[in-house]
Amino acid sequence: MSYAAGFKSLKREATVGALPVEGAMPQWLSGTLIRNGPAQFEVGTDTYNHWFDGLAMLHAFQVADGEVSYRNRFLESRSRSEALEHGQISRAEFATDPCRSIFRRVMSIFRPRLTDNACINIAKLAGDWVAMTETPLPVAFDPETLETVGVTEFADDLDVQTMTAHPHIHPDTGQMTTYGASFGRSCRYHVCAIDPGSRRRDVRARLPVDRPSYMHSFGLTERYAILSEWPLRVNPLDMLLEGKPFIENYEWSAQEPTRFRVARLSDGEEVTQVEAPPAFAFHHVNAFEQGDAIVCDIVTYNDASTIDELYLERLRSDEPTPAVGTLHRYRLPLGGSTSLVKPEPLSETQLELPRVHDQRIEGRPYRFVYGVGARKAGNFTDQLVKINVESGASKTWREEGTYPGEPVFVPSPTGGAEDSGCILSVVLDPKQDRSFLLVLDAETFSEQARAPVPHAIPFGFHGQFLGN
Ligand SMILES: [Fe+2]
Repeated sequence: MSYAAGFKSLKREATVGALPVEGAMPQWLSGTLIRNGPAQFEVGTDTYNHWFDGLAMLHAFQVADGEVSYRNRFLESRSRSEALEHGQISRAEFATDPCRSIFRRVMSIFRPRLTDNACINIAKLAGDWVAMTETPLPVAFDPETLETVGVTEFADDLDVQTMTAHPHIHPDTGQMTTYGASFGRSCRYHVCAIDPGSRRRDVRARLPVDRPSYMHSFGLTERYAILSEWPLRVNPLDMLLEGKPFIENYEWSAQEPTRFRVARLSDGEEVTQVEAPPAFAFHHVNAFEQGDAIVCDIVTYNDASTIDELYLERLRSDEPTPAVGTLHRYRLPLGGSTSLVKPEPLSETQLELPRVHDQRIEGRPYRFVYGVGARKAGNFTDQLVKINVESGASKTWREEGTYPGEPVFVPSPTGGAEDSGCILSVVLDPKQDRSFLLVLDAETFSEQARAPVPHAIPFGFHGQFLGN
C-alpha cells in the first residue's frame, strides 16, 4: 500500500462524538484543529487533473479534557453545487478547465466565473472563519458545525483575479496582510491589509508587472512585504486566449532570475528589487529584518517541475514522487545592491508544508520550523520533521507505511521556549484504510497520543488550531 491511497475521493460525511484515544492527550490542549483539502476528484464522468483541483472538504478535530471528537463536511461552494447539479465539472480550477465550447470560453473572458472551491487553507476574516483558495472568493463556514455560510464579499472595489491562500496574521493586532494580482492590459500585484472585523482591503502597495509570476505565498516583516517572482511567468494575453487551465499558461524560464520585490508597507514604495538564481517555491517559511537586510526563509526547488509531479495521474501511479524541497535563506540587502543574492541552505533535511510558532515569531527572528518530510527522495511525505534554523539540526517522527500531513504547532498555555507545546498532524495509514490525529511533544518530537478516525482522509494542505 502506498501513498496513492491519499488521492482517493472521500464522499462520506461523518460525526463521531468520541474517537478512541491511544496514549494521553495533553490535558491543557483545548480547541479545534480544522483542516482543509480536496476530497472529491470526480464529478459524473469528469475528473479533476491535479491535487490542487479537488472539491474542498473541512475536517474538525475538537479536543477537550483529553478527549477528541471529529466531523467532516464538504464545503458547499458554488463550484460544487453547480457541478453536482449538472453532473459535470463546472468551474475552472488550478489545472482543470471545463470550458467545453468556444462560446463559453469567450463568455468566460468577459464574465469570468472564478472558482470558490476553497480547498487550500482557512483563516479568520471579518470575524468569520473562511476557507480559501487562490481566488478572491473566501467562503465563510461555521467552525462548530462546519456548515457553509457563503462567499464573503469584500467591502471595496479592488479588482483582482487571484489572491493568495497564505495571508499573514499579525501576532499582536490580528491584522491580516495578503496579496493579489490583477491581469489585464497592465498587470499589478496588490499588497493589502485587512483589519480584524473589517471586509475592506486597504491597498498598501501596488507593484506593476508585465508578466506576473506564480507566487503561492509571500514574505512579511514588520515593515516590508516581500514578493518572490520565480521565473514561472504568464503572458496575460495567453491566459485569455490560449484556453489552457490556469497554471498551464505559466512558462518556466531557466534563463531568467528569481526577482525579489520589496515593498514598504507604510507608503507603498518599492524599496528594492533583488535578483537570485532561478528557483521555484510554494511556501515562504518566515522573514524578518536584520540590520540593513531582510532575511527570507523559503522551501525551494530547482525548478517548477514539482507542479507537474502533483498531477493526480502521476500521484496515483505508484511512481516515486518527490514532494519536499530545501529550506533556503535569502539575505536581501535593503541598500539597493543589484548583485545576485545566493541562497544559503539551512539544513540537509528536506521539508514541505512548513509551519512555525506563528503566534509569536511571525515576521521576527526564530529557531524552529516544522514540516512534512521524506525519508528517501521520492517517498512522497512519509515523516514529520523539525528543523533548528540556527544549527541545521533536525528531529524526525515516522512510522513505517504511514503518511503524515502538515504539522500544526500549538503553543503550551504557560508559554516558555519557542518549541514548548505540541504538534498536531493528520496521518494516513493506508494498511488500515484510515487516518489518525497524531499529537507529538513539539520539543522532543515524541508521540503523546493518537486518535484514529473511521475513514482514510485524502491528503489535505493546510489547517489551523482554534483555541478555546
Ligand atoms: Fe500552501
